[in-house]
Amino acid sequence: MSLRIKLHLLIAVLTLVLVATMVALFVGDTRRSVGEEITASSRIAQQLLSRLILVGAQDGLDDIAEYLRGLGRVRSNDIVLYDADGRALYHSPEPTYKAGRSAPDWFAHWVQPTPQTRSIEIGRGGRLVIRSEASRAVLDGWDDLKRLLGVALALFAAVNVIVYVVVGRAVTPFERILRGLREMERGDFHVRLPALRGREAGAMGAAFNHMAEAIESNLEARREAAESAARLAAQRTLTGALHARIEEERRALARELHDELGQQVTAIRSLALAIARRAEDDAAMRNAVQALTATANQLYDSMHAMVPRLRPLALDSLGLVDAVADLVDDWRLRTTGIRYETALAPLGDEPGDAVRIGAYRIVQEALSNAVRHARPTRIEVRVAVEDGALAITVADDGIGLPDTPEHAGRFGLRGMRERAEALGGGLQIASAPGTGCTVRVRIPLDQPEPPR
Ligand SMILES: Nc1ncnc2c1ncn2[C@@H]1O[C@H](COP(=O)(O)OP(=O)(O)OP(=O)(O)O)[C@@H](O)[C@H]1O
Ligand SMILES: [Mg+2]
Repeated sequence: MSLRIKLHLLIAVLTLVLVATMVALFVGDTRRSVGEEITASSRIAQQLLSRLILVGAQDGLDDIAEYLRGLGRVRSNDIVLYDADGRALYHSPEPTYKAGRSAPDWFAHWVQPTPQTRSIEIGRGGRLVIRSEASRAVLDGWDDLKRLLGVALALFAAVNVIVYVVVGRAVTPFERILRGLREMERGDFHVRLPALRGREAGAMGAAFNHMAEAIESNLEARREAAESAARLAAQRTLTGALHARIEEERRALARELHDELGQQVTAIRSLALAIARRAEDDAAMRNAVQALTATANQLYDSMHAMVPRLRPLALDSLGLVDAVADLVDDWRLRTTGIRYETALAPLGDEPGDAVRIGAYRIVQEALSNAVRHARPTRIEVRVAVEDGALAITVADDGIGLPDTPEHAGRFGLRGMRERAEALGGGLQIASAPGTGCTVRVRIPLDQPEPPR
């Protein structure tokens, strides 16, 4: 049921209750006033007739009848004169006031007082009976009530028409607001309301428009955020794929170097040995062959040194934790004055290749940075599994990071961060001048391999 109908019904019911109360009060009043009128008038009639009979005590019944005929009807009283035999000698005439009409029985029943009858003995066996008769007073009450009802009904109709129109005008703006809300519910956030009539409705309309604007700009911001999150995710996937590709190329290169170049350098050394055997007498030739052999050996050694850098063999054969331990040992041998500490917890299941190589490269870069830039006396490397993620920490007690460490042409810190993010994790660096630098990385272990 609409608000307009509800309000209208409420006002109609209230008006009806008002009218009903008025009618009830009126009926109560009428009942009292009729009662009072009838009592007063029958008392007057009794007094009058008693006095008359006293004065004309010598008169015969016919004289009294004659007198009564002359008196006519006394309002609200029926008067009957009986002789000694009980015959009616006189009966007061029917009322002429509003003759032929009477109030409905139910109304008379409500307002009519109990009829009173008084009998006066008048000597010589005669008797005068006076009976109260309220039908005229009741009819007056009924006529007044009809008038009152007529006015009340006209008022009722007028009030209802006015209320219907006024409430309709007052409610229309709210119906407009409701329509706006429904449109929003259906997902149309472009909806705006015109200036609405009335102070409250106007304020609500303005608030509605502000709300719609706020929702719209919020949605826009969310859409943009979702778009940039999707772009970021795509970039990370691409970075992950690039790293995977680079590692694959490095692995292939390491294999080629080891298998092809290694074989060929070995062949050169064998050839050099054969030449040396044949040119035993030729000192110059012998020297040249020795130089060739030495160069081939150097080539072989540098090829061997290069292979593990391209693809840390320990990573494939020993797993991440031991490969990291190997890496730290390597730096321990190559540096002096630095104490290396490790806390490398066994990982349980070995992580997938992408996580393994990513984590290894991050430790490699963080260690290399600490040694090259920090001038530390102590470096600590920790690897553990925490809450389903690989947690890596490389901390030094060196000079700390400069104010803007990530600058153009430097790729180490950026590369570490990108690697961690491409694997769905993140990197944090804590550092203050003179207090060293701590690199913390988290990489979730439960993740799909990045596409190649
Ligand atoms: N552990 C550290 N202690 C102090 N300074 C550091 C540390 N790690 C990095 N830095 C500073 O941050 C800068 C950026 O490091 P980043 O690894 O990005 O580049 P880089 O090591 O200089 O070059 P590369 O691209 O070869 O890694 C470094 O030049 C160095 O000044
Ligand atoms: Mg670096």
